[in-house]
Amino acid sequence: MGIRKATRSSSMMHISASAGIVLLLTLLASFSIGICPQFPVDNTSTPSLSTLPFLSNTFPLLNASNSLSEDFYDLTCPRALTILNETLTHAISRNASIAPGLLRLAFHDCFVQGCDGSVLLSPELQDGPNRNSLRGLEVIDEAKRALEQECPGLISCADIIQLAARHAVVQTGGPFYPLALGRRDGFIMNGSLASAELPGPDLNISSVIKIFRRKGFNETDIVSLIGSHTIGQSKCSNFGQRLCNVQGTGMADPRFNASFFVQLSTACVLDSPITTEDNDQEKSACNCSPTSTVDLDYDTPTVFDNCFYKNVQQSRGVLATDAALLEHPTTSALVQAYAENEELFFEDFKHAMIKMSTLGVLSGLQGEIRRNCSIQN
Ligand code: HEM
Repeated sequence: MGIRKATRSSSMMHISASAGIVLLLTLLASFSIGICPQFPVDNTSTPSLSTLPFLSNTFPLLNASNSLSEDFYDLTCPRALTILNETLTHAISRNASIAPGLLRLAFHDCFVQGCDGSVLLSPELQDGPNRNSLRGLEVIDEAKRALEQECPGLISCADIIQLAARHAVVQTGGPFYPLALGRRDGFIMNGSLASAELPGPDLNISSVIKIFRRKGFNETDIVSLIGSHTIGQSKCSNFGQRLCNVQGTGMADPRFNASFFVQLSTACVLDSPITTEDNDQEKSACNCSPTSTVDLDYDTPTVFDNCFYKNVQQSRGVLATDAALLEHPTTSALVQAYAENEELFFEDFKHAMIKMSTLGVLSGLQGEIRRNCSIQN
């Protein structure tokens, strides 16, 4: 298993070619860019960045200790990235909701058994939070078919997932980050790992921190990664309890901004609450529409920006885990810092995505290169 390091010149070539794509995509995204609301914010408690040096990650060099490299396919399949980028650009232009689906897919792949493409195999795909919930799978298949035609048996599904996530971020206006390639695809392991490894939307902040720490992520990584909720949607069922019966209290979650609560209830609640008897105490549960969805960032749902953090600050986070970011001094300070400084958010996000993309990767002779992403060879 040879260690391949990207040469400086090939990295530069990639980065400058990519910079052109970034410029083009940013221009395209700017046509749809909205503006998130500027509610009055209490700036008196805003930590200056100089008081938060430990929170800000510096941009990392690619880790030479793994066997991946940015130029992995340059000799064996030089058109791979062009083919992939074309497929993804068309797919996202046709349907903007594909982009968040692809970003989430990378998270769900890496957090369960490493970034090995196993999220696309049916045991993991059908488990826990993945079941009937992941989007963009057909685009991964489309890209894989195109790549198999060009270079049969060479480009792994695990790499396609990571490249697709980066493309989704860039095409929606977010930052470009370098990705080392050469991941190999994993085999079917345990069907119930997704439920065990992925965080649920009702967790409190200590549980979120615990789950991410287990994978080697610090608070900066956590808060910047969850900023991915600046694009995409959630089914009402993922936060329905917050509308009527948060943690069995029979009440709405007091952390909601009042008008936002009305917005979400209008989108999600079908009719009057269901009332149930529980130890002689009346508790109500929302009769949430099983099919309705809402935008995770109500203001600019198709643009990768820092509005998510402004929303969270204004008690307009959709998921309980989004709202919970304000309940820990470090994560709360980061929400504030990112709400004020999009550049800082982008820097830390890039660092965290690179880190996530190397979790538990297979390389060299490990695993396989699947011919069809949803079936083990
Ligand atoms: C505490 C951590 C997290 C929790 C509890 C969480 C939970 C969720 C839930 C429940 C949804 C809605 C799914 C649906 O109804 O279809 C969602 C959507 C999404 N999540 Fe997360 N997530 C977390 C972290 C992350 C991270 C780290 C990323 C990416 C790096 C991410 C990216 C996304 C994206 C882009 C969407 C929108 C998907 C779409 O529109 O198809 N999430 N998340």
